[in-house]
Amino acid sequence: MTLLAGLRLDHPVLNASGTLDAIAARDVLGDATLGAAAHVTKTIFPDARPGNPSPRIAETAGGMLNSIGLPGPGIAAFIDDVLPRTRTCVGVTPVIVSIGGESVSDYERLAALLDGVPGVAALELNLSCPNIESGCISIGADVAETLLVTRRVRATTALPLLVKLSPSVSDIVALAAAAVDGGADAVTLTNTARGLAVRVDTGRSVLGGPGGGLSGPPLRPLALAAVYAVRVALGVDIVGVGGVDSLATAAELLAAGATAVAVGTATFRDPTTISRIAAALAPPTSIEAR
Ligand code: SIN
Repeated sequence: MTLLAGLRLDHPVLNASGTLDAIAARDVLGDATLGAAAHVTKTIFPDARPGNPSPRIAETAGGMLNSIGLPGPGIAAFIDDVLPRTRTCVGVTPVIVSIGGESVSDYERLAALLDGVPGVAALELNLSCPNIESGCISIGADVAETLLVTRRVRATTALPLLVKLSPSVSDIVALAAAAVDGGADAVTLTNTARGLAVRVDTGRSVLGGPGGGLSGPPLRPLALAAVYAVRVALGVDIVGVGGVDSLATAAELLAAGATAVAVGTATFRDPTTISRIAAALAPPTSIEAR
């Protein structure tokens, strides 16, 4: 059993927000894709968003860049349609709803709308997406704004709160401390790092957006450094995210101080990565217990 932000989880392996659509994954790939101890949704905004122009994904040395731009149907359609269908797919698995906004009041409004909705086990504040013009990382790169948004959401709901931060900031410990001071129960470390792949013929970004978020194994050392620094400084619950693709790489983040880990990019190569790591982490059943 893993205790994360007050949630009792069967094991310490989650999906990273936005990398596993439970509905599509189960329909196309089957139940083996759905082993996460808690299912984290794609970040939802108050209003529908189209996302960024394509191309949205590019391979880079050992990892991936994305410029998805947080497309989504908006909170009303999420509550009426996406959330109930997600719950049908994931069963009794707790659902952590990732929320995003362009302003502090967007987060506050989303928390108020989600408070008391059946099946919402916790909220994750996305303060770290690098792919939008305003909001998310522009709030989460600033200590005072991070404190304010977390405090406002904390005053709006009693749901467990996770705050997801970016590695592309000057002082991750100060930002995590602001989140904790504001009332966060856990921090998620980290979202993707700001990156760029450039076309030599045009000098422009390979992706449809001006840059992208770097994920996969190249992110792992950054995530490890963030997890270790925050654990030593604050002792708060942490979801470690960055290049988790095996039992060994999950174990590294747990050893650095993460309470749980989340798998993202690796699920694109092998959608059963979460369930494989969870099974490998499970203690063997003793003969007496069988
Ligand atoms: C995106 O939709 O742009 C990626 C999600 C994120 O970085 O939070």
